Amino acid sequence: MNVIQPQVDGPLKVTGDIEIVAADGAVLKRMVEARLCRCGRSAAKPFCDGSHTKAGFRDDVRVGAYQPKALDPGAPGARLCITLKPNGPLRCFGEMQLCDSKGAAAWIGGQASLCRCGGSKNKPFCDGTHKDIGFAAE
Ligand code: FES
Repeated sequence: MNVIQPQVDGPLKVTGDIEIVAADGAVLKRMVEARLCRCGRSAAKPFCDGSHTKAGFRDDVRVGAYQPKALDPGAPGARLCITLKPNGPLRCFGEMQLCDSKGAAAWIGGQASLCRCGGSKNKPFCDGTHKDIGFAAE
């Protein structure tokens, strides 16, 4: 199972069988661990470069914000494909477990759009705020 651990006031720590995919479907990188920007300020997107500290990014990774849901039967594979939606979220497809601030499983699913602009009110999920704030990223 791939594990996504949002760090308090920091990036998404992702471990497992991970594939970072461009919007055109090109595989950019395969990895077993990544720290992905979710404050929207990194100069090395989609990866974290530590800019969240200077930006004053805040998120306490509350379990109550999540919508628990069963794994979509048959749809996802063991590999977690993370597609970079231009000017939008990280579109994740594959088996994944999202953890709370203490590392406990808070959500298990097969597909999710995770915020990378820093503005969602339902972090770590995207709520469409990226459009309102003019988030720009490849
Ligand atoms: S990427 Fe942040 S709300 Fe969509």
